[in-house]
Amino acid sequence: MPDAIPDDTPAAKRDRARPAAGGRQDGAPVRLLITAGPTHEPIDPVRSIANRSSGRLGVALARAAADRGWAVRLLVGPGVDTSPLTRCPPGPHAVTRPLGPGAPARERSGERATSPPANDQPSQTTQTPSPNPTSHHRDHNRNQERARDADTAARRAEGPTSASPPSVERFQTAADLDRLLGLCTPWADALVMAAAVADYRPSQPSATKLSRSAGPLVLRLEPVADLLARACAGMRADQVAVGFALEDDPGDHARARAKMAAKGCRAIVLNPLATMEADAIDATILFADGRPPVAPGPMPKAAFATVLLDAVEGLLAGAVA
Ligand code: CTP
Repeated sequence: MPDAIPDDTPAAKRDRARPAAGGRQDGAPVRLLITAGPTHEPIDPVRSIANRSSGRLGVALARAAADRGWAVRLLVGPGVDTSPLTRCPPGPHAVTRPLGPGAPARERSGERATSPPANDQPSQTTQTPSPNPTSHHRDHNRNQERARDADTAARRAEGPTSASPPSVERFQTAADLDRLLGLCTPWADALVMAAAVADYRPSQPSATKLSRSAGPLVLRLEPVADLLARACAGMRADQVAVGFALEDDPGDHARARAKMAAKGCRAIVLNPLATMEADAIDATILFADGRPPVAPGPMPKAAFATVLLDAVEGLLAGAVA
């Protein structure tokens, strides 16, 4: 049999240089959990407080990771456009799992949020709406939440594989995201926390629509817990988390490093306010273990996604197995 002709394209060379299956020491495909986009905190049934965020970098990361053959789970906030994930190819490290009794009902029945051909849409899309404050709806929502949690727990155990396109789940509030993180983080090798979590929420959202005719309105806001710090506190030594620091002064490494230490993540992406809702990013990746910062300069978010995934690979290679 003749020798195979080596593929010398840059992509093939890069893939050969990469550890087996992209960073995990046991050779299995990396499992990447990404959060992206804003959280919305209700003021009343029609109004909310939100952070500015397009979620574009998170979606670009999901796309780039799927292209590497990683298993990807993306948690996205309201309004994030996940269409770049359509026609996302399955990765080269295909893992097929038989659908048995343990598989989520939706997968067993073949039902999908939309009905395109396989791989034409992100694999699963779940809406996690904010609780409606009326008591009738509260009970209804609680039951829905329980059902969703059971479904997500089943999928966490099953997990998306590198053979599937990225799975997509929606959150609205920080509480929704916190719950999804609790369910999904144990599945992941790496968490990239790109979500723009609103730091304050109305302490008493109104159950009914507030009327402008009532005159001036004073809102009492309460701080939202640090979700990344909470997720990092529960992580195993073989897992890594990457946070973001959005700063007025992108040269302020000390402030970003203090955030990284306070949250307990292994790396932090320091980026300026101009990043919000933009196509490009000029970020610096700082590491907790003292390796030198990575500052690739201004570039499209899709290009930065590959730089950040390389950093995640480096962190996983050094993570305790
Ligand atoms: N984050 C979080 N929970 C929050 C606020 C932020 O998990 N309540 C995460 C973000 O997803 C991001 C990182 O923490 O990965 C840093 O977010 P940033 O807004 O830059 O900093 P804060 O922690 O909110 O601190 P400050 O408001 O003082 O800048």
